[in-house]
Amino acid sequence: MDRNDNGVRFGILKRDPVMISYSSSRSPEATLRKQISCLKKGGIDPSLHYRSPNQSKAWKEVFQAHCPVLSDPSFRQIYQNLFSRFAQESMQKSHLIGLGCGTGIKEQWLARSMKRMGAPIDRFTAVDVSERLCQISMKRVLPYLVESPQAWVIDLEAADELRKALDQGDRTERRIYTFFGLVPNLAPVTVLRILKTLLRPQDQLLISANLAPVRKETEAEEERAVKRILPQYRNRETKQWLSMLFQEQGISRKMISSLKFEIGKERELRSVVVRAAVLADFEWELGSKKISMKKGNRLTVFQSRRWTPLRFERWLKRNGFTVRGVEMTSNREEGVWWAER
Ligand SMILES: C[S@@+](CC[C@H](N)C(=O)[O-])C[C@H]1O[C@@H](n2cnc3c(N)ncnc32)[C@H](O)[C@@H]1O
Repeated sequence: MDRNDNGVRFGILKRDPVMISYSSSRSPEATLRKQISCLKKGGIDPSLHYRSPNQSKAWKEVFQAHCPVLSDPSFRQIYQNLFSRFAQESMQKSHLIGLGCGTGIKEQWLARSMKRMGAPIDRFTAVDVSERLCQISMKRVLPYLVESPQAWVIDLEAADELRKALDQGDRTERRIYTFFGLVPNLAPVTVLRILKTLLRPQDQLLISANLAPVRKETEAEEERAVKRILPQYRNRETKQWLSMLFQEQGISRKMISSLKFEIGKERELRSVVVRAAVLADFEWELGSKKISMKKGNRLTVFQSRRWTPLRFERWLKRNGFTVRGVEMTSNREEGVWWAER
């Protein structure tokens, strides 16, 4: 691919021309700033787990081994049910924007449904912090599109940059945003900021949440429910993926303990939290900065928030979204909502 001075690359994907834009939020300086600010608060910037090609590959292995979407047909079914309902009502020219699209599998299902329904997606923009994942998802969705796909390699926290770029194009188009698999990893306030920056009243949102599989919304039931889903995280592939960050950063295994998988609670919201302890004092070298890590400090390496279905829907409504549809797996571990502002 050829890259020009404005951070845009042009290339060919299966004989189609594609364009990849690179946000300044992915510049080494911006990445570093975010990483340092998270580390100072005792955490790891979640997008750091997906940045290198090796990490994207390791995450793909986690996804293939443990993501119920691939192994349990009812997970796939909820997406397909919602997408076909959505497609039936979508007769307008549309632009699909896959936020944190990963491998783009769900965007592919959506684009296929729309094409089958005679309302094919006109344009697709893959948006992810990982260039490799953007490329994989453009390839997946390509056969179902009217126009060639494009991609934005961006940290979604810089969503205003994406919004400006989109608005330089066709402002009258209807934008369909997907937001799958991101709700567990981002603080609710961050999710809201991203969605409010991007969504206009004529746009549509398809958003998934990983859930604490409760039947009744009680504290005890919620705690039990999160315990039940812990093995989806406490496994070899996930440990390997999350530990890769330390290898990539040149941090010896002697400095950081093995990963601990626990249940955390933050403002009523339970999470699976992966923590590690610092085993000896050391300086974490980040570019020209050195952050001093003290023996005994605990680091939050990863966090997966598990909403209850009721709480998630109430949160959407309280923040100005109208829910137009919802599908939930029979075991209530995952839900997908269709909403608009
Ligand atoms: C759990 S995966 C979900 C992927 C896909 N949407 C799915 O449901 O299969 C999260 C995806 O979001 C991307 N991601 C995480 N944090 C991000 C951020 N701050 N900005 C942009 N992409 C991000 C990751 O690279 C990864 O592809």
